[in-house]
Amino acid sequence: MAQDFQLPTTHRVLQLISTEEPLQVKTIPTPQPGPGSAIVQILVTGVLSYSGEIYNGKRQYPFPKPFVPGASAVGRLIAVGPDATMSLGQLVLLDCAIHARDDPSAVMLSGIVEGFTEASRKLMHGEWRDSTYAQYTKFPLENCIPLNEERLLGSPSTGGFGYRVEELVHISRLLVPYGGLSDVGLKAGETVVIAPATGPFGNAAVRVALAMGAGRVIAMGRNESALKELSASNARVYTVKITGDDQADTQAITKLGPVDVFFDISPPMAAHSTHLKSAIASLRHGGRVSLMGGIKTDISFPYASFMHRNLSLKGTWMYTRYQMLSFVRLIESGLLPIGKGSGLIVERKFGLEDWKEAFEAASVAGINEVVVFVP
Ligand SMILES: NC(=O)c1ccc[n+]([C@@H]2O[C@H](COP(=O)([O-])OP(=O)(O)OC[C@H]3O[C@@H](n4cnc5c(N)ncnc54)[C@H](OP(=O)(O)O)[C@@H]3O)[C@@H](O)[C@H]2O)c1
Repeated sequence: MAQDFQLPTTHRVLQLISTEEPLQVKTIPTPQPGPGSAIVQILVTGVLSYSGEIYNGKRQYPFPKPFVPGASAVGRLIAVGPDATMSLGQLVLLDCAIHARDDPSAVMLSGIVEGFTEASRKLMHGEWRDSTYAQYTKFPLENCIPLNEERLLGSPSTGGFGYRVEELVHISRLLVPYGGLSDVGLKAGETVVIAPATGPFGNAAVRVALAMGAGRVIAMGRNESALKELSASNARVYTVKITGDDQADTQAITKLGPVDVFFDISPPMAAHSTHLKSAIASLRHGGRVSLMGGIKTDISFPYASFMHRNLSLKGTWMYTRYQMLSFVRLIESGLLPIGKGSGLIVERKFGLEDWKEAFEAASVAGINEVVVFVP
């Protein structure tokens, strides 16, 4: 049967009017494509563990109001601007990190945060205001990353992995730590400390580090059952509990050998956690630190130690386009499985009207679980 690429005149979206009132499902005109953009039919889109806190204002993320919230998603090209080279019907990963074409340093996260410069704010208040909690969305062409449908969704009998389309949402979560771990040049055989590793992005970092060939992954966290789950997942994963005694924790880490890389993915609440001190103290001479967490306050760091031990510190917000494309190749190679048997799960799917339940489910989801909207 020929596929119908007609755009409906209207579509359903989840809209945020203000952080003080409940989100609303509305029917609004369907966006139209123009040069440099595509209209994508959303098949499935992810919910963050802290989405509820973003849209009720608790995390104080700046964004325009009203707008259609969202996150990275998987969809199909349904209409494209005149300069597009991809074909209609192409399966794409929608990458939420939108950069200004004339200033790559201006970045906003579609549906999540308008960024922190005048230029990034202009992007989200104008052309790219509405995101993926909708049946259709308009996205920049360069943020529509083509996925090899035959390989990813095709039957194993014909060389495919047989993934379900919703399982592809794991790619966008795994991609985040890939940005930081690539930026500090994690190499095969190296030892990396990941902390905290007991949250969704931390757990993703453990999987990505293993796929990049890390010899040892030392996962830190407070939640003992999550740590147990991590150490049972792979023989190259070791765990160290964050006890609050930084010296004891440093000893526990260094017992496992010299550490090449410390990858931090702390949420704002972990600003005073002792793992920052103990993980930095465990680094070998010349070790590297990747900061990808969401800590908002200034924190002190051991200046002399950085100098005497030739340590380096690299902050990373999301990832580069090159990293994103190479990560999709990694997924398509099968080196980092995301389907049945991988331990990653997508059990809970919600319609847009069930947004409250979706945010609640994501906030209590297991570390291997992604909660999604199927609009
Ligand atoms: N740089 C980027 O591009 C980027 C992208 C996405 C997200 N992020 C940031 O990454 C952060 C972490 O994400 P997430 O997926 O792990 O979800 P999260 O829900 O924000 O954080 C949960 C994790 O934080 C730990 N935690 C909470 N309070 C803590 C405390 N007081 N001390 C020590 N650990 C504490 C939890 O450990 P236990 O359960 O063991 O207590 C768990 O591992 C987010 O908050 C966000 O700001 C950054």
